[in-house]
Amino acid sequence: MGRLVVVSNRVPSSSDRHHPAGGLAVALQDALRRGESLWFGWSGKQVAEEEKHSRTVSQEQVENVTYATIDLTHSEFDGFYQKYSNGILWPLCHYRAGLMDFIRRDREIYLDVNKFYARKLRDLLRPDDIIWVHDYHLFPFAQALRNLGVKNKIGFFLHIPFPPWSLMKSLPSAVSLLKNMQAYDVIGLQTEDDARNMNDGFMQCGFGPRAQAFPIGIDPDSFARQAEAGEHDAEVHRLKASLRGRPLVIGVDRLDYSKGLPERFLGYEAFLKRFPEHKGKVMYLQITPVSRGNVADYKALKRDLDETAGRINGMYGDFDWTPIRYLTQSVPRHLLAGFYRLADAALVTPLRDGMNLVAKEFVAAQKEHNPGSLILSRFAGAAAEMEDALLVNPHDPEEISDALHRALIMPKAERLARGKKLRESVWRVTASSWARDFLEELSKDRPE
Ligand code: UDP
Ligand code: G6P
Repeated sequence: MGRLVVVSNRVPSSSDRHHPAGGLAVALQDALRRGESLWFGWSGKQVAEEEKHSRTVSQEQVENVTYATIDLTHSEFDGFYQKYSNGILWPLCHYRAGLMDFIRRDREIYLDVNKFYARKLRDLLRPDDIIWVHDYHLFPFAQALRNLGVKNKIGFFLHIPFPPWSLMKSLPSAVSLLKNMQAYDVIGLQTEDDARNMNDGFMQCGFGPRAQAFPIGIDPDSFARQAEAGEHDAEVHRLKASLRGRPLVIGVDRLDYSKGLPERFLGYEAFLKRFPEHKGKVMYLQITPVSRGNVADYKALKRDLDETAGRINGMYGDFDWTPIRYLTQSVPRHLLAGFYRLADAALVTPLRDGMNLVAKEFVAAQKEHNPGSLILSRFAGAAAEMEDALLVNPHDPEEISDALHRALIMPKAERLARGKKLRESVWRVTASSWARDFLEELSKDRPE
């Protein structure tokens, strides 16, 4: 059996291997505990242009995984990561074509970095390795490897949504992007809708359908254990003490416009206005680590959220009560597990999301005999499997406020019934069943 070679732009650095922020790194960490494997990608570091030709891959072995990473130059980081991946592909795949800021030069840098990564990886490959490429930074990666003569099996998984062709075609060179993807043996997406959209795109461009849905999961057993262990954690105790018996509402999201945070804050404001009986009696903790902080739209979002949180706290707060505890630092995942377990409700209201692992983690962390309620956007991939959550349209603050009120007054019998179904869904598809199903498909023989 060959090695599993995972390729993704983001490889958790040694410092955050235990608590990476971002669903991709989390899901893969959970899935990689199999045989011998290699994880290749960006080191997270930038170097000056003069060092462009002297960069080497650095390798670190941790248990059965070799982490092999390479630096980007400043201009590659800017053109490949900030501009093309996160300023074009990310908004487009999240149905926000209006936010795209297209410059042809950035696409060239994107293609060049894919070729550069491919050259560096080729030197590390063995003939029987199975290669599994992840996410939008690397759409053309298999083609770049094939151009170097690599014959190994190559699969691709997209962690984010894929929009309908009517939207996708607004990307200059969309056809060439889909053409490059023909070099993959298997293509996986989060939901049936995403797979349908991609296959429709392939067919509109004259290719055959080849995308399939492989919804991603978490490792619920280990997450539930962490949540239970959290009951003895000093920080979880501190949070509990600060609640003074009041219900806790929690939100955990990277600071990203796809997460619907301004809309959520307005939903919470509507909740305080329309159900004043909860004023002073509920704690809303929003954990929102800054992400991609140099990209213009993310900077603007941060200003907006800082202002909205400040305004709501100023307007509705009291000398002994803060309506929103809003943090922009990341929290280690094991601690999040303990926080979720304390919470009576979670607000997971992205405008669009590939899956949203936080929704699954929240469910896994609950006390089986007394679960909290999940308020979930209909536009998160997770909604396709979690119909027993309180599903909301995240664009409607009043709908969010109704759901929050309902969550907080929900009779225990209803919480238990919903909680049971939600648990079943989270334990049905896990990180390891996801990886197993995808890799099984990839190892099948297929015609040239
Ligand atoms: N996360 C974390 N610390 C934080 C915030 C988030 O460890 O401060 C983790 C969270 O537990 C989850 C992941 O980051 O596993 C976020 O994944 P999700 O699919 O919800 O969203 P993404 O960030 O991939 O868009
Ligand atoms: C999402 C994307 C990942 C990305 C992560 C964190 O989960 O699907 O590809 O790694 O966000 O974003 P970052 O830009 O910090 O890698």
